[in-house]
Amino acid sequence: MVTTYNLTLKISRYDPAGKRGWIQDYQLEAGRIQRFVDLFRKINEEQDPTLTWGSSCEHGQCGTCSVIVNGKPLLACELLVEKAVKYFATTTFSIEPLDVAPVLRDLVVDLAEAYARIDKVKPYIIDPAPPPTKGHEYAIDPKLLDRYVNATRCINCFCCVSACLAGHKNFLGPNAMLASIVRVMDPREKEKKERLKILYSDQGLYRCHSSQACSFVCPKEINVAHFMALAKAGEFNQDL
Ligand code: SF4
Ligand code: SF4
Ligand code: FES
Repeated sequence: MVTTYNLTLKISRYDPAGKRGWIQDYQLEAGRIQRFVDLFRKINEEQDPTLTWGSSCEHGQCGTCSVIVNGKPLLACELLVEKAVKYFATTTFSIEPLDVAPVLRDLVVDLAEAYARIDKVKPYIIDPAPPPTKGHEYAIDPKLLDRYVNATRCINCFCCVSACLAGHKNFLGPNAMLASIVRVMDPREKEKKERLKILYSDQGLYRCHSSQACSFVCPKEINVAHFMALAKAGEFNQDL
């Protein structure tokens, strides 16, 4: 039984000082359950301290470590070597920064503008409804919660944005749409009209081609395209 793999990582490098980009090959031996963030760290420790990459929680909860591996956007802290070898049927991996924002250095991108798109939809409760019974917290009917609870698991890793086939520069993106849809479905939110205006604006839902690429890559297994389809079908207008 194979316990280690000899891997080749072809990593996109970028030096902001010289404005120079290149692909650098690293050969390394790795165990079955090492994750790609472990491989980056191993490269830093054993071969090249200058390779720059990002991570924070390393438990699939913060979205900081998103990269594109062999064309697929994913979380480097969740990708195990054994799983990657099986899934891509190779021991050679091209690793690129997420293509949704300018590259700062190597695998690290500047997400400021990408987050500004999410801020546009106000991803929080704007006008909270008071709890139905005075002095109690707001209890959401479990059946109602079931309709949208998956969508609340978004960590803004931007993998769906990278995979999105909509391509229009105005489109706010699948995660921004999802953040807005969640609040439209949330009974605690009284402000729906402003949200629907953005959802149905020229930056919104109708830029989506229903390709479902977003659902395919989402590491939190959110069926993003399903929520987009509900909103497109006018499912929420009755709530107004
Ligand atoms: S379904 Fe829409 S939002 Fe999702 S990837 Fe396709 S075009 Fe983008
Ligand atoms: S919907 Fe999924 S893929 Fe998109 S940002 Fe949220 S967690 Fe990431
Ligand atoms: S480091 Fe937080 S999701 Fe990967």
